[in-house]
Amino acid sequence: MQKPTVMLSAEAIAARVAALGETITRDYRDSTELVVVPILKGSFLFASDLIRQIDLDLSVEFLGLRSYGAGTESSGVVQITYDLTTSISGKDVLVVEDIVDTGLTMQYLRTNLATRNPRSVKLCSLLHKPARSRVPIPIDYLGFTIEDRFVVGYGLDYAEKYRNLPYIGVIGG
Ligand code: IMP
Ligand code: MG
Repeated sequence: MQKPTVMLSAEAIAARVAALGETITRDYRDSTELVVVPILKGSFLFASDLIRQIDLDLSVEFLGLRSYGAGTESSGVVQITYDLTTSISGKDVLVVEDIVDTGLTMQYLRTNLATRNPRSVKLCSLLHKPARSRVPIPIDYLGFTIEDRFVVGYGLDYAEKYRNLPYIGVIGG
């Protein structure tokens, strides 16, 4: 398998994740029930690093969403592949996503979560590709803005491969 070209090194990602964790720790210091919701599968590595940089009591609830087939184009149709296992009613929900691309997945998720009566919902995304935005999505905590390239690694896949790369890269340079 050809090695993707580095766009964001493991060191650059780690430094950014530490800074995000510090900000989140500050912002949620008065929260009584913080629930971190990593969106599977793409954000599992990011979320595992991020929560270790958040110095607060928190719980973790996974949510699996799928908006892509095996290709690289958003279908706009979102499927829940794994749902939360406890109520988020009255809780502060921090959604952790790998990348906001068209924004269609997060638009769907915001509407869906709102029906479950959380106290608050904020979004932390490692990456944002504004060039492809189709709906405006407020990102409360953002790692990096990137250009319009399909990226893989650090949890992000191409046809389910490359998730285990320790950096974020581009296939074929
Ligand atoms: P959106 O609905 O178009 O915003 O797509 C969001 C989802 O598509 C992300 O959570 C990723 O799983 C996937 N995705 C979008 N862009 C990329 C990319 O460049 N590499 C890998 N996955 C991507
Ligand atoms: Mg995803």
